[in-house]
Amino acid sequence: MSYDVVIIGSGPGGYVAAIRCAQVGLKTAIVEKYSSLGGTCLNVGCIPSKALLDSSEHYHNAAHTFKTHGIELKDLKVDLGQMIKRKGDVVKQTVDGINFLMKKNKIDVYTGMGSFVNKNKIKVTAADGKTQEIETKNVIIATGSKPISIPPVPIDKKRIITSTEALNLTEVPKHLIVIGGGVIGLELGSVYSRLGAKVTVVEFLDTLIPAMDRGLGRELQKVLSKQGFEFLFKHKVVGAETKGKEVTVKAENAEGQVVEIKGDYVLVAIGRKAYTEGLNLEAVGVKVDERGRVDVNDHLETSVPGIYAIGDVVKGAMLAHKAEEEGTFVAERLVGQKPHVNYNLIPGVVYTWPEVAAVGYTEEQLKEAGRAYKVGSFPFKASGRARASMDLDGFVKVLADKTTDEILGVHMIGPRAADMIAEAVVAMEFRASAEDVSRMSHAHPTFTESMREACLAATDNRPIHM
Ligand code: FAD
Ligand code: NAI
Repeated sequence: MSYDVVIIGSGPGGYVAAIRCAQVGLKTAIVEKYSSLGGTCLNVGCIPSKALLDSSEHYHNAAHTFKTHGIELKDLKVDLGQMIKRKGDVVKQTVDGINFLMKKNKIDVYTGMGSFVNKNKIKVTAADGKTQEIETKNVIIATGSKPISIPPVPIDKKRIITSTEALNLTEVPKHLIVIGGGVIGLELGSVYSRLGAKVTVVEFLDTLIPAMDRGLGRELQKVLSKQGFEFLFKHKVVGAETKGKEVTVKAENAEGQVVEIKGDYVLVAIGRKAYTEGLNLEAVGVKVDERGRVDVNDHLETSVPGIYAIGDVVKGAMLAHKAEEEGTFVAERLVGQKPHVNYNLIPGVVYTWPEVAAVGYTEEQLKEAGRAYKVGSFPFKASGRARASMDLDGFVKVLADKTTDEILGVHMIGPRAADMIAEAVVAMEFRASAEDVSRMSHAHPTFTESMREACLAATDNRPIHM
């Protein structure tokens, strides 16, 4: 078979690239080593984690807030097996949807490991060892990422686990030790904390979610502490040992003192790394950078013309929607269009409760760049909508240019922040000023009014409800 484009990897980068390639008229094939399409995101990432976050949140609310709402429940208990089964059903339905989309768009799907024979020939090796070769004019590498592990903490996938195993536990841990206070650690830590586990997070730095605006990390720490999380900051994990059902983690502080923490499960969530194993990049001379990521130029083309790379396997945020943008970008470039990805406006979300969401520059970045800015902040405790739903923690913070009032960054922690951040992205894409947003009607009562109030505060410090 011969194609205009072959895409290796079917995550949100790969399958979106495939659909867009087909839409613009390219004869397209996608190669996926697993029998299930959708990559990390659909199978062991975004979708299953959100399914468990939703289930555990229902339980948490039933246990902690229903009574105040006037709802009495007797014999409340967790059926983890059913929770995991429902999560599996959600994944299956979502993956089935991708199969449907491949057929609808007439994209040929090859199941097996893709590797380069040369720049125009891809070998697909199926699980049973059978191989076939496909010819192509262009290739898009979309092979994603895998969890990082460190030698002192050998992952056994039973007691010392990654996010993949954490999505399939058969019991609620008594004490889950999470290494890494980033997105995965706090999301999956939340799942099990809500279901009754004690959760201790060991973090190397002095803050949670260090890549985001510092104010968000501080507030999230406060809220999660109230929910029962324990944190050990500025500690480097130097060892982990399993004896039967007990795991002992050793962590060292800056002074060299070592503490021991005992739990029954350890979740290693210290980041992910680009995955290029088995691609045989050497055969075609595709270069990787010092962190093992496929090196690409501004057009996402590798060191070899006609071979592109997108998503987690290249530099930038490891996010599904970033991978999707890049998939669309490459497809459109292949037919001579002039697409654009605004990397500064890729939002980031942490699906704890309250949710954390942000887009644009952080205060730390603006300070470092020496840019004069104004801050407008509005707390959810001043929102009628938040009072009605008992979601009073958190705030919206808007950063605007001191002179022009253009919105430069929006950082929020609060109810449904994950959905609310879309307004900030739209406003910033259109280069709105804080005053622009503050003059637009926001339905009452909604959480989104807090965005408007924060913009009023940023423009000339005149929020209405504070
Ligand atoms: P992937 O989704 O990793 O897909 C790569 C695919 O390539 C895989 O299916 C792999 O099997 C296949 N592959 C690899 N090598 C080969 C080969 N040689 N031949 C054939 N196939 C190959 N991001 C968000 O934006 N929102 C979230 O809520 C979110 N939650 C997450 C939760 C967890 C627990 C995890 C782990 C990640 C989460 N992410 C989230 C990150 C998100 O999953 C990734 O950013 C996204 O999946 C990257 O997409 P991708 O297409 O680059 O790669
Ligand atoms: P992360 O980069 O978000 O967090 C890792 C944390 O571990 C950091 O705070 C880091 O300081 C800490 N750390 C690193 N080494 C350590 C050590 N030896 N000891 C203690 N702490 C250490 O990585 P995470 O949580 O593994 O997630 C990986 C990627 O997956 C992220 O980049 C994220 O983009 C993506 N993801 C996105 C989600 C979302 O969008 N909601 C959800 C889950 C994952």
